[in-house]
Amino acid sequence: MKPILIANWKANFTNRQVQEWLGQAQTHLEPVKNATIILCPPHTALTLVHELITDSTLHLGAQNVSSFPHGKYTGEVTVEMLSGIVRYCLVGHSERRKYFSETSDLIARKIALLEAYKIKPVVCVENVTQAEELSDLVKTRELIVSYEPTFAIGTGTADTPDNAFRVAEGIKKYFGQAVPILYGGSVTAQNVSTFLKEAVVEGVLVGGESLDPHRFVQLVAAANSAN
Ligand code: PGA
Repeated sequence: MKPILIANWKANFTNRQVQEWLGQAQTHLEPVKNATIILCPPHTALTLVHELITDSTLHLGAQNVSSFPHGKYTGEVTVEMLSGIVRYCLVGHSERRKYFSETSDLIARKIALLEAYKIKPVVCVENVTQAEELSDLVKTRELIVSYEPTFAIGTGTADTPDNAFRVAEGIKKYFGQAVPILYGGSVTAQNVSTFLKEAVVEGVLVGGESLDPHRFVQLVAAANSAN
């Protein structure tokens, strides 16, 4: 299976900066055939990136979606709005739980909406307990799960690959063997191959290192050489 490599730019980048990033990285990323590369810009840049990567090998994901289908919910971006633009959407990132009080129930509602619109959820969990809880709340198994321990996010201290493999096995017990499991948390070009050396982890979710186009290109090259 080709590794899934996700760039999560979080709350960074104006549209001009997005254009600059793609200007520097796109020609290096597009020829990569042995990986599924998914870019997750902020909502304001989704249509721009959609236009710039049409007909390319790169894929687009949103970082978040409303738990309401549509209506009087000022400021929300709904699945209907994302549909036709993105193929993937992050849900339940620990930053959403921490700063926006998201609960497993709310995350499950978002997953159900995404499923209805055929947008693949990339569900972030901090541990096996959260995976178990969510697996009870959501029926679909058409999703990707990313194991993201909070101690590793943005800290420069990644989890050990062995622990990531152990947790990934644990998550698969609840979501099934067919569901791809990713690892996220301080992934770099230097350590990415160590997380991809066991088949149980099928990709990585990259925050900080994806902000620099050159570093992300290097990370993708390193991930490819690991396979
Ligand atoms: P990081 O973020 O790569 O900056 O640690 C990862 C994440 O939030 O998923």
